[in-house]
Amino acid sequence: LRADIEAALAGAADLRALDAVRVAALGKSGQVTGLLKGLGALPPEERRARGAEVNVLKGEVERALETRRATLEAAALDARLAAERLDVSLPPRAAAPAGPEAGSIHPISRTMEELIALFGAMGFAVAEGPDIEGDWHNFSALNIPEHHPARQDHDTFYLTAPEGGRRPVLRTHTSPVQIRTMLAQEPPIRVIVPGRTWRADHDATHSPMFHQVEGLVIGRGIHMGHLKGTLVDFLRAFFGIADLPVRFRASYFPFTEPSMEVDIGWSRRTGELGQGGDWLEILGSGMVHPKVLANAGIDPRAWQGFAFGMGIERITMLKHGIPDLRPFYEADLRWLRHYATSP
Ligand code: PHE
Repeated sequence: LRADIEAALAGAADLRALDAVRVAALGKSGQVTGLLKGLGALPPEERRARGAEVNVLKGEVERALETRRATLEAAALDARLAAERLDVSLPPRAAAPAGPEAGSIHPISRTMEELIALFGAMGFAVAEGPDIEGDWHNFSALNIPEHHPARQDHDTFYLTAPEGGRRPVLRTHTSPVQIRTMLAQEPPIRVIVPGRTWRADHDATHSPMFHQVEGLVIGRGIHMGHLKGTLVDFLRAFFGIADLPVRFRASYFPFTEPSMEVDIGWSRRTGELGQGGDWLEILGSGMVHPKVLANAGIDPRAWQGFAFGMGIERITMLKHGIPDLRPFYEADLRWLRHYATSP
């Protein structure tokens, strides 16, 4: 019987099978229990010797059951740990087609980053100002007094005036940051100002909200040669055309004197930049007007400077051959996939 029970124990592959073995041996009608019950029928002397034997057997079976149970429990735990194991070093699965997609850099942001890098290499820092401006910063300090016709050119968005105060405006250009920068820091100054600008104008080539980048250089003995060299270098680097034709054309802005608009060479017929014999206006520039320097607390006899401003959408459209302004603001994924770049 002992050998039978040992064999059954060894063959019990799990805890449930083990319990069946226990019941068969030690249960109410188990084999060992049956032997114990049978003792009463034996004569007294035989009963004692036989009883001791059966009790030893019972103890052995109990210990063997306990040992086998411990082994099976340890095996069950090992199996569970193995089944639940995670390999954190596995490479991630490729994103499922319907899953979340990685974002990308909007063409406006990309151009701003390129401007910051290109001018950064020429020693320009980045300055910023508020979108909501006072009339003085946006106009008067820039030598655009009230009733000046240039104010009409700007299609200004006015906000409600505070009690007894003047109406704030959504800045119509980044030029007010010229004033803020000159008031905030001592010359020499070399900054660019990328940012949002606003004009009440809306068609295929105008948006009420658009972006400009301003440039301002103030130093001793700054002259038009510096202006021309800086802008020619910038335009050729930005458009990636080493011999891009650049033309300076006399113009007028109230805050620069003299003022120049800058044209680049292109083909009106094919839209290709750099050749074709036609001219395309690309930016406004000039020597900072002495009145503007004085308005911003800088002595125009000691310091000179130049400034320029251009539309970020416009240079982005020209560089990448983007035909329409409106999709810049529409978050159309097909357009973004075509023109946006990965980070
Ligand atoms: N502020 C001008 C505009 O919005 C551009 C400009 C900036 C011109 C600086 C000259 C100097 O058109």
